[in-house]
Amino acid sequence: MAGTVFFVALCGFLSVAYSAAPYKCAGVATYHLAFYGNWSMMTHPYAWPLGGRFSNLVGASHGDNYTIWDGGMMASPGVKDVAEEGNSSTLEAEIMQRIMYNKTAWKLIKSMDGIAGTGSEMNIDVEVTQDFPLVSIVTMLAPSPDWFTGIKKVSLCDTSSGMWMDSHTIYNLQPWDAGTDNGTTFMAANNPTMPPGYISMINKLAPPTDFMNLSASAIPTLGKMMFVRQNKPTMNQCSGMYYYTVKFEAKWSQATHPNGWPTGAKFSPLVIATHSYKYKMWSDMTRASPGVKKVAETGMEGTLYNEVMMMEKPGFVSNVYTTGAVSTPNGYNSTKIMVQNMYSMVSLISMIAPSPDWFVGVDSYDLCGTNGWKEMMIMNLLPWDAGTDSGRNFTSENMETNPVDVIKRITSSSDTQMGADADKVFATVTFTREEMITTTTQATTTASAPGLSAGLFAFLSVSLLAIMGVLF
Ligand SMILES: *[C@@H]1O[C@H](CO)[C@@H](O)[C@H](O)[C@H]1NC(C)=O
Ligand SMILES: *[C@@H]1O[C@H](CO)[C@@H](O)[C@H](O)[C@H]1NC(C)=O
Ligand SMILES: *[C@@H]1O[C@H](CO)[C@@H](O)[C@H](O)[C@H]1NC(C)=O
Ligand SMILES: *[C@@H]1O[C@H](CO)[C@@H](O)[C@H](O)[C@H]1NC(C)=O
Ligand SMILES: *[C@@H]1O[C@H](CO)[C@@H](O)[C@H](O)[C@H]1NC(C)=O
Ligand SMILES: *[C@@H]1O[C@H](CO)[C@@H](O)[C@H](O)[C@H]1NC(C)=O
Ligand SMILES: *[C@@H]1O[C@H](CO)[C@@H](O)[C@H](O)[C@H]1NC(C)=O
Ligand SMILES: *[C@@H]1O[C@H](CO)[C@@H](O)[C@H](O)[C@H]1NC(C)=O
Repeated sequence: MAGTVFFVALCGFLSVAYSAAPYKCAGVATYHLAFYGNWSMMTHPYAWPLGGRFSNLVGASHGDNYTIWDGGMMASPGVKDVAEEGNSSTLEAEIMQRIMYNKTAWKLIKSMDGIAGTGSEMNIDVEVTQDFPLVSIVTMLAPSPDWFTGIKKVSLCDTSSGMWMDSHTIYNLQPWDAGTDNGTTFMAANNPTMPPGYISMINKLAPPTDFMNLSASAIPTLGKMMFVRQNKPTMNQCSGMYYYTVKFEAKWSQATHPNGWPTGAKFSPLVIATHSYKYKMWSDMTRASPGVKKVAETGMEGTLYNEVMMMEKPGFVSNVYTTGAVSTPNGYNSTKIMVQNMYSMVSLISMIAPSPDWFVGVDSYDLCGTNGWKEMMIMNLLPWDAGTDSGRNFTSENMETNPVDVIKRITSSSDTQMGADADKVFATVTFTREEMITTTTQATTTASAPGLSAGLFAFLSVSLLAIMGVLF
């Protein structure tokens, strides 16, 4: 009993100690965006032109380094074209440039058509990632000189918990002036501002516009934008703690991979983590962390090991393990890992060595299935590119990718020395369920668990047992 109290108190202390950290949200999240217009003679008396409508929405998911629009900055040519004409083609081109060359935006967001002042448009696809969690969008108030509404740098990541939001609604959409046309009424003829001014919010009093006609003290919202998450993780519930054996086997040889099996070909020491759905060691379409970059480029596991250890805290990572390097063609290694309750996922990584930044790995495989803890699973590992080095040959000179790219699968159509070998299995990993862990087995086996293991929870349980030993 006293032990339980101590354990709870210790967990409480840990969560307090960690709660200040702003978290990134892991992986990729997809949303549907719905836009509901709320702009009419009824909601905005004499501040709505006959036939007043919104042009098609256009915007992007992006990172902090890209500001599509904001008060106090000059409208880009693309934002100007949307605000003045409702024509999104220039802004789309600007966004595509950021996506392809500058790597500061992730995906274009676009609705096909505009909507009436009280119309709606649903199911607009939005994809955000841990590197690009922000969303900005514009839509013209039409007709108008250069007035628009929209959202800027709205984050779909709850950084206080590290969880993608299930839904997020922006209820207050105000009118903005792009600063490029100085007309003051909805129907004003084109009247370019020379030189152009800054983007500014239109309010009741200034600048003088038809919005002054409203009797309300503030301009009512022009509509709302509602994001609803589509790929929510399904969470299986498995109880208890289990050991699994993780066996990693090389399947890479001259015979199997004729396009490349360089001298000294091997797999670097594995880094393996057991964790919840909130953590990702690495994933498709996201940027490699410094630790993953180091493993993929050099095979050195220390940085990643420390990085994972930093995430060993309630809700994220349970344990981290390493093994020795695995030689080819027929090398293998194995270690025992521990999974429990919500910490039912396993991720691992190993460099394909030598190579520019290629690796094999497992991203968040859930050992908990719909029918409880899985018995056994064999996975075929294919090659991945960490997006940090542009070399194409196993033994290419270092060639830093700038700006850095995201992690992607290498396939036979990727331009690498592997060619068709890229679609072949480089290694397999087998997860086999072992005994259930009870307090007794844990006390005896934690200290001598195979491989190098550093687990917060193992540590907590051991200290708990030690304290209980003292108390009783
Ligand atoms: C706003 O009020 C002015 C002056 O009464 C009027 O000329 C204008 O048409 C009104 N605007 C709209 C959109 O009704
Ligand atoms: C953002 O911009 C700064 C300064 O230009 C640069 O140092 C940084 O690497 C950029 N970050 C990303 C994620 O592109
Ligand atoms: C939109 O703008 C582009 C670029 O200025 C132009 O080529 C295109 O014709 C415009 N589209 C319409 C429908 O006006
Ligand atoms: C984006 O990339 C292009 C081409 O590499 C470059 O000319 C431009 O300056 C970059 N823009 C920003 C804002 O970084
Ligand atoms: C709008 O700008 C033009 C050119 O800068 C100027 O000639 C005109 O007087 C301005 N009109 C208003 C209403 O400010
Ligand atoms: C439209 O806005 C008015 C206030 O201006 C609000 O009372 C009403 O609920 C809104 N309608 C919708 C569908 O959001
Ligand atoms: C597996 O890795 C460990 C180091 O974690 C090493 O001691 C052991 O010899 C390796 N086993 C094989 C079969 O290579
Ligand atoms: C890369 O590998 C291919 C095929 O083995 C070879 O033809 C080419 O010369 C190599 N390039 C470099 C830069 O090593």
